[in-house]
Amino acid sequence: MSRVAYVNGRYLPLARAGVSILDRAFVFGDGVYEVCLVRDSALIDEARHLARLRSSLQALRIAAPVGEAALKRILREVVARNRVGDGLVYLQISRGAARRDHGFPPPGVAPGLVVTAKSLDPRLGEANAERGVAVITLPDERWAHPHIKSLQLLPNVLAKQAAREADAFEAWFFDSDDFVTEGSSTNAWIVAADGALVTRQADQAILRGVTRSRLIDIVAAESLRFEERPFTRDEAYGAREAFLSSATTIATPVVTIDARPIGDGRPGPITTALRRKFAAAAARS
Ligand code: PDD
Repeated sequence: MSRVAYVNGRYLPLARAGVSILDRAFVFGDGVYEVCLVRDSALIDEARHLARLRSSLQALRIAAPVGEAALKRILREVVARNRVGDGLVYLQISRGAARRDHGFPPPGVAPGLVVTAKSLDPRLGEANAERGVAVITLPDERWAHPHIKSLQLLPNVLAKQAAREADAFEAWFFDSDDFVTEGSSTNAWIVAADGALVTRQADQAILRGVTRSRLIDIVAAESLRFEERPFTRDEAYGAREAFLSSATTIATPVVTIDARPIGDGRPGPITTALRRKFAAAAARS
């Protein structure tokens, strides 16, 4: 079955879908995006993704291309037209297409909206969760506002590629004080040596992950010991467990960091339990 994309008001076969070469997403990376997990054809945590989209748009002073009710209809339509049961829906908004000029385009230039969806085999994620994944660490060379979900992802792209070339699944960034910030496309967590679950506070240095916030809700409901604070690479090397989170990876155990085994080098019980609880919570939402 051929895939379908929504592009600025039209549903088009993916192979024929395109935007102007003057679109500022193409020219400047001037736009924002969201990735939402789809399970049983339902969008998981859609409201939280749309809330974060609103704040990214506000931060960059980009107008919403359509109202929220219309956007929700488009997201569902793209999922349905692509017959996605398990997978993801991707949406991106650009500042629009205009003559190339670094400053904002003149009033009246409409923001651009593109939505695509794709199926993912959930067994691949489950296999990663059973085996655990490897992480490498790299200096965080991004700009000062990674909390905005902007399309400009070059440091993240290079970091993910470096991880792949090192046979790792993800790269975790560390800042100038050696604190882990987050992964190239995931948030970073540890179960510290004293048993506390730790993830960095969601300041401007990291993306406020929707999965992260959902996992924090689960942690609170389970009354697990939890600290929102920075942790260093050394603390991570000596952690009992480590894991990463994102819409598509949920909570995936990390079994090595820079080739050093974490805990006993196998997925840890707290990570595994959180992943299971997420699935149960998502099924109810
Ligand atoms: N990535 N940190 C970064 C830098 C991310 O790009 C992402 C998401 C996350 C996790 O956020 P969430 O739980 O809301 O997915 C953290 C998406 C999936 C991506 O770029 O494909």
